[in-house]
Amino acid sequence: MAVFTALSATQLAPWLQRYPLGQIVDLQGIVSGIDNTNYFLTTTRGAYVLTIFEHLSARALPFYLDFMRHLAARRMPVPVPVAQSDGALFSLLRGKPAALVSRLEGAVQMAPAAHHCAEAGRMLARMHLAGKTFAAAAPQNPRGLAWQCEAARAIDPFLRPAQRRLLHHELAFQHSIQASAEYARLPAGICHGDLFRDNVFFVTQQGDSAGHPCRLSGFFDFYFAGLDKWLFDIAVCINDWCVMPASGQYEEARVRAFLTAYQAVRAFTPLEAVYWPALLRAAALRFWLSRLHDFYVPRPAKILNVHDPAYFERILRTFIAKRL
Ligand SMILES: Nc1ncnc2c1ncn2[C@@H]1O[C@H](COP(=O)(O)OP(=O)(O)O)[C@@H](O)[C@H]1O
Ligand SMILES: [Mg+2]
Repeated sequence: MAVFTALSATQLAPWLQRYPLGQIVDLQGIVSGIDNTNYFLTTTRGAYVLTIFEHLSARALPFYLDFMRHLAARRMPVPVPVAQSDGALFSLLRGKPAALVSRLEGAVQMAPAAHHCAEAGRMLARMHLAGKTFAAAAPQNPRGLAWQCEAARAIDPFLRPAQRRLLHHELAFQHSIQASAEYARLPAGICHGDLFRDNVFFVTQQGDSAGHPCRLSGFFDFYFAGLDKWLFDIAVCINDWCVMPASGQYEEARVRAFLTAYQAVRAFTPLEAVYWPALLRAAALRFWLSRLHDFYVPRPAKILNVHDPAYFERILRTFIAKRL
């Protein structure tokens, strides 16, 4: 984490009175994640997560909270925003929008096997289809090409010449791809945008007859969600879930497991198969840029984990070496 906004139980108590959740039993800052301030909150009524939104405005927030409720209503294991006694799903805390959501059970699986990837793929496809019936207007992917160009300008002074060449090459490639009429025809909808291994929980299942000891018990961190090509969302996952850490190469068994499970719910169109390598590159570029940005243009935080940008640089270089 990121605890950008430090808070004691005593300081939280007056705000918590807006909720019918009893008294505070425990409040712990969460030491993972990099965007918002999160606390585990236990009250006499249950276990919750308190999120203080460091960047999202009160105007932007209803989309995310309503979308989570939409998914929860369709039996998807996402955090459910808790309503205040007056019905509101969030209000200001220390001058920033803040919300309480249900705490999910399980733990992340940072060394996923093929069956974890299959579970994630199936869930992502279900989420994509469930997004089709979400009535409210959704924003565009907040980390699309416009943001990427801005970020590229901000980090430019810090780059080595070879990195600068790679970055400009990739940005130009993505601009040309995304300007095409064919690209416009790729299936699109609400994407999670950040469904990395650290945003998905699994629980161990005893005596599972299918032989899969784990069940996907939750996914969260919807605050980069927005409209984009579904293929982009899948590529974000593959670049994180299915890459071997030592070599930076995709592990075929995991890629196949993810894509097969995804396609059992929603099959790719022929055009998606054509654009798959370009979208893998788009997803790598987006996260290379945001990690460079987090690295070189940091924000003050009490606890902050910055992820290594080199991971995605290596994925991009691998594509170029293979001339994909
Ligand atoms: N609803 C939840 N239930 C259980 N743990 C959660 C929940 N929401 C967040 N967390 C924990 O907090 C961490 C950070 O939350 P996340 O929403 O991923 O924020 P960030 O944007 O900072 O990555 C997660 O990795 C997870 O361990
Ligand atoms: Mg997260």
